[in-house]
Amino acid sequence: MWVSGRAGAVPGSVFALMDAAKGEARAAGRSVIDLSIGSSDLPPPDPVLEVLREATRDAGTYRYPLFSDTAPLREAAAAYLDRRFGVQVDAGREVLPLIGAQEGLAHLLLAVTDPGETLLLPDPCYPPYLGAAAVAGLNVLTLPLRSERGFLPDLGSVPQGVQARVLLLNYPNNPTSAVADVAFFQEAAAWCRARGTLLVHDHPYAELTFGEYRAPSALQAGLDGVIELHSLSKTHHMGGFRVGFAAGDAGAVAALARVKGAIDFHAYLGIQRAAAHALALPDAVGRAGAAVFEARRDALIPELRALGWEVATPQASMYAWARVPGLRNSVAFALQAARQTGVALSPGAAFGAGGEGFVRFALVQPPGVLREAARLLGTVPVS
Ligand SMILES: Cc1ncc(COP(=O)(O)O)c(C=O)c1O
Repeated sequence: MWVSGRAGAVPGSVFALMDAAKGEARAAGRSVIDLSIGSSDLPPPDPVLEVLREATRDAGTYRYPLFSDTAPLREAAAAYLDRRFGVQVDAGREVLPLIGAQEGLAHLLLAVTDPGETLLLPDPCYPPYLGAAAVAGLNVLTLPLRSERGFLPDLGSVPQGVQARVLLLNYPNNPTSAVADVAFFQEAAAWCRARGTLLVHDHPYAELTFGEYRAPSALQAGLDGVIELHSLSKTHHMGGFRVGFAAGDAGAVAALARVKGAIDFHAYLGIQRAAAHALALPDAVGRAGAAVFEARRDALIPELRALGWEVATPQASMYAWARVPGLRNSVAFALQAARQTGVALSPGAAFGAGGEGFVRFALVQPPGVLREAARLLGTVPVS
């Protein structure tokens, strides 16, 4: 009874079912290899933890942080964007700390849209996007991501007359691990500007890139009508710290700050200090973390191909997105795999109808464990 229309509209998650299947495997005495959740298993860099420890001993960090207290993190974010992408932002008006990109996105939609407006969302996509859209009361129009197009949306397929308020993109992409180049962001930004649509780019995998590949920023297409969400969850293995930042269009940043002002008081100052320190670390630190995921990718992909599964070699992200020939019900397959073998994957359909026929692996275990997981999966019937 005590549920609002908006709460009731938030879609349920397949991950609760997966959790139950993992429990069944454990109860049957199997060890569980959990590749279903994209939470980094690496620790944050030591100097970052040291800054946080130090902050907890500083009584000046215990109070509510004010906007002015966020200046060091905003300045560190601006310096990072300049160093990494050559993007200049005003740390006073065009950057705002977040309690994670997920929090930032949900509040951003509340800040820049009104109920009944249209949100363009990729399909498949990170499932909380659908929850955030439901909370904001938006109409979702999905843009299919197909392997033939490198999992990039075809903006030309949006019907004439659709007046979308926001286009939400995410590259390196979860779940497909696809990447986009600057030209794509320029095209998307121009398309949005021509239609009065805000381009929101969710960018938590900015530094989780492999080999020579470096992910660009959507802000390289200009700040006007573009806002990007950054997170330290994956780039610095700080998922539990809940910290990130938004940067871009000054009007959108101001609107987000207004909504957040009614809801939260910014992250703990010690976490802000740790995040500012992390953003200023030499790039080599981030490269070392990314190399761990790259080695896992290299261990898993050949094993999946040996099973006959179709999987591209990711250039970034912490996922492998595999099409399983003959797979018609990815949820049933993933539940069966978890119960029978203890290997927990994400079913592609959990990311939207466009994900059916696929499964997603989070590369959150060492190479030997990933190889063993692939071997076990080979024993699960596909249907
Ligand atoms: C695309 C995408 N956006 C946002 C998040 C969450 O980021 P944060 O931890 O900063 O809230 C994730 C986490 O998996 C993600 O994959």
